[in-house]
Amino acid sequence: MRKLLIAANWKMYKTPIESTAFLTSFYPLIKQNTQAEILLCPAMTSLAALIDAARSRSVFIGAQNMHWKNEGAFTGETSPVMLTAIGATHVLIGHSERRQYFNETDTTVNLKLKAALAHSLIPIVCVGEKLEEREADLTANVLELQTSIALEGIDPAIAAPIVFAYEPVWAIGTGRTATPEIAAEAHKLIRAQIAKSLTPTLAASIRILYGGSVKPDNAKSLCCLEDIDGALVGGASLDPQSFADIVQNATAR
Ligand code: PGA
Repeated sequence: MRKLLIAANWKMYKTPIESTAFLTSFYPLIKQNTQAEILLCPAMTSLAALIDAARSRSVFIGAQNMHWKNEGAFTGETSPVMLTAIGATHVLIGHSERRQYFNETDTTVNLKLKAALAHSLIPIVCVGEKLEEREADLTANVLELQTSIALEGIDPAIAAPIVFAYEPVWAIGTGRTATPEIAAEAHKLIRAQIAKSLTPTLAASIRILYGGSVKPDNAKSLCCLEDIDGALVGGASLDPQSFADIVQNATAR
């Protein structure tokens, strides 16, 4: 059984005080939840404060990005060693905004994925096609390529913790959500590629989240689909009530 994972990607929003205030309001709203794992990914500067505030609460705290090296002369970067040292448990890898604005490539995604696994961080690997790729009928090629390069050289014996997130770029922050049919088809393609790159057993157990304009009112129709194992939420995760409603609706399967 794949347990639902509902993850918040706060992007470049919220100071440490705003991040911990969110948790104070949010936690009572979802405290009864047992059906989904909940993950908050704040900005780097809020990570330590939020990890402290979340101690003894059943909420995971992760980073939005990291470098693949343990240390070195890489100004402005954060290493997996630094993340685990402060107690982060998850890391987003290859978010489309990283690919679009910060030159992240499938090759760096692969390096980061290997580093995350080596340091026992749960990686959430983001894949997804751009609008022009969908319109040119290239969605399957893009998803297969991004998934297969991400998984290149990964030993199946250590691959179980990997999570994927299907995030069609045209649906991110646009208010345009993939229809359940589009999402289901993409998730099938990604799962089939995982089976080829790793093993069919892993493909059946690895979680694939959907991301892109997830809101309280569409969370149920997306998360009730067989191949969708949760959500990666941007804009609608910034407000405690809205994110709690997403958790509530997504788990009302
Ligand atoms: P959105 O962002 O929910 O604001 O579309 C999703 C994401 O970027 O992960």
